[in-house]
Parts: sequence; C-alpha cells; structure tokens
Amino acid sequence: MTKASSALDRVLVLEMVRVTEAAAIAASRLVGRGDEKAADHAAVEAMRAAFNELEFDGTVVIGEGERDEAPMLYIGEKVGCAPGTGPKIDIALDPLEGTTITAKAGPNALAVLAIAEEGGLLNAPDVYMDKLAIGPGYEKGLVGLDRTPTENIKALAAAKGVQPNEIIACVLDRPRHEKLIAELRSLGCGIMLIPDGDVAGVIAVTNPDTTIDIYMGSGGAPEGVLAAAALKCVGGQFQGRLLFRNDDEKARARKWGVTDLDRIYHLDDLVKGDAIFAATGVTDGSLLEGVKRRKGGCMTTESVVMRASSGTVRWVKGEHYKER
Ligand code: FBP
Repeated sequence: MTKASSALDRVLVLEMVRVTEAAAIAASRLVGRGDEKAADHAAVEAMRAAFNELEFDGTVVIGEGERDEAPMLYIGEKVGCAPGTGPKIDIALDPLEGTTITAKAGPNALAVLAIAEEGGLLNAPDVYMDKLAIGPGYEKGLVGLDRTPTENIKALAAAKGVQPNEIIACVLDRPRHEKLIAELRSLGCGIMLIPDGDVAGVIAVTNPDTTIDIYMGSGGAPEGVLAAAALKCVGGQFQGRLLFRNDDEKARARKWGVTDLDRIYHLDDLVKGDAIFAATGVTDGSLLEGVKRRKGGCMTTESVVMRASSGTVRWVKGEHYKER
C-alpha cells in the first residue's frame, strides 16, 4: 500500500487496464456479428474472470443488473480473490458499453469500469439520468441542469468567446430528445447525434480534438456515474439528475438509498474521494481505438486509465500474442 491513498493502491491502476483489456478482447470476437447478447456475455465473463485474479475485496455497486436479473457481475456481487483481507473497493462497471454498436460494428464501444473506496460511488439505479457535461477550464457552475438548454448554450458560448451557433453539442439520437434538438437547432448549434455510447460522448467534451463543447440529454444513470468518474480525473464539469418513468423506477431508486428524487448530482456526489477510471476500446471511437486482430494472431488494444487523486491519465497500447 502506498501513502498516496488509503484503499486505492496505485498498483491497481494498471491492474484495471488488464481487466478492461480482457473484456474488450472477448467482446471484439463478436464485433459486427449481429448478436448483442453474445457480445455482452463474452465481455462479462472475461471481466469477471480478470477481477477474480486480483488481490482485493471488491463489491460491484453498478453492474449488469440486480441479482435476480443478472447471473454475473450483478449489483452486490463480490469479486477479487482477497475477500475479508484485501482492500475494500467499490466497483462500477460496464463490460460492454455499446452492445448494439458492437453488434453493428459501429463506433465507440468500450469496456469500462471505475473503482473507488468503499462507499465512494453513487449506487445509481438502472433508470435514465439527465446529463450535462462541459470540458475543463470553465468557471464552476457556468452551466446547470436547473437552467434551460438555451441559457446553458449562451453562457458557454460567452465563456468560450464564440457565438451560440459555434457551439457543438453531443446528444444521443433518440425520439425523447426531439425538443432538445429543436431548441439547439434554433440557436444554430452543431449537434453530433450519437447512436449509442454516452460514456464516450460525455468524455468527448474533455478532448478538444472531438470539437464537442457540451454533452446534453438523457441516458443510463449507471453510465452517468462511469463518465463522472472519468471527468473527476481529467477535469470538466458534470451534472446528473435521475429521471423516473414510473413508480416502479422510483421504488428501485429508494431501494438503493436515493431519498431526494429530484436532486441534481455534481461530480463529488457521484464519485467521492479517490477514483480510478479505466476503459479499453472495443470498436474505434473518439476516445480509443478498438481491438485489432493482426495477421499472425497478435491482437492490439488501446486503453486509458486515470486516477483522480494523482490527476494522471495514461494511454496504454497493448499487444497480445496469446488469447486468454
Ligand atoms: P448498452 O451498452 O447497454 O446497449 O447501452 C448503450 C447506451 O447507448 C448507453 O451509452 C446509454 O447511456 C444508454 O444506452 C441509453 O439508453 P437508451 O438506448 O434506452 O436510450
């Protein structure tokens, strides 16, 4: 254990890359094969096996679903080979973020996870979350979910020193975003409509090469916590508010300890204390290259791993000559 952190030993940084690499390689065999479930299953199995080689006492707090819905990596499942003795780690994971993308060989599918000390991650229920994210370098509170899209775009444009019609927003391409898209169009904004994969979409605001200034709209709440972990490491602002379609979803949230259903969560509410975020590309995307299978059997991977307390971001290229 190093003095840099309590439970999150820095050695875990590279171990997390091994875990996301394993899931990405497993899923990559199913890219473009039209079978979302098989791709997801392969990634889940590989991620679980990789976790179980690690010396820690891990608990999945955001996973594949509740125990009765998911056979593996369900919420509450213990992983790691040192239960009771190793450091206690909470884990948010998505072994395959972008199952449909993978099945169709589209862009931005990832194997992704975040870890924090026990109690450090919001136990987000599997409901939608309204999300708002901007990159680093802006005054805190410049944009907010308590304001209209128009107010947020105008504030961001003024802070960036451009006109609102020069702002590029990233939004999931969904009928539920029709009103948001119309409002952004009326301001003349550019809109990057993505088919799926809002973890990469949110993180894209931190990378000027993507040209995306702001992420807006709703997607999965678990994916919101994962993206928030990344922004906590690299900077940028994120806000999320849970959205409920019915009483069953509200009950689900209460079960996970959510008392204020209208609360706007900021980065430190979603991810407390230190955190490590890791992702490996399954298919090529704005964040990472996907897995490539070369002649002769070598597989290449690209991953990123970040740590909040040290503010480090490492890009890891892997060459894998043996399949696990
Ligand atoms: P899956 O990997 O579970 O298919 O999720 C993909 C995704 O696009 C997420 O990135 C996003 O948060 C969510 O689905 C949006 O949900 P919906 O497809 O219901 O709009």
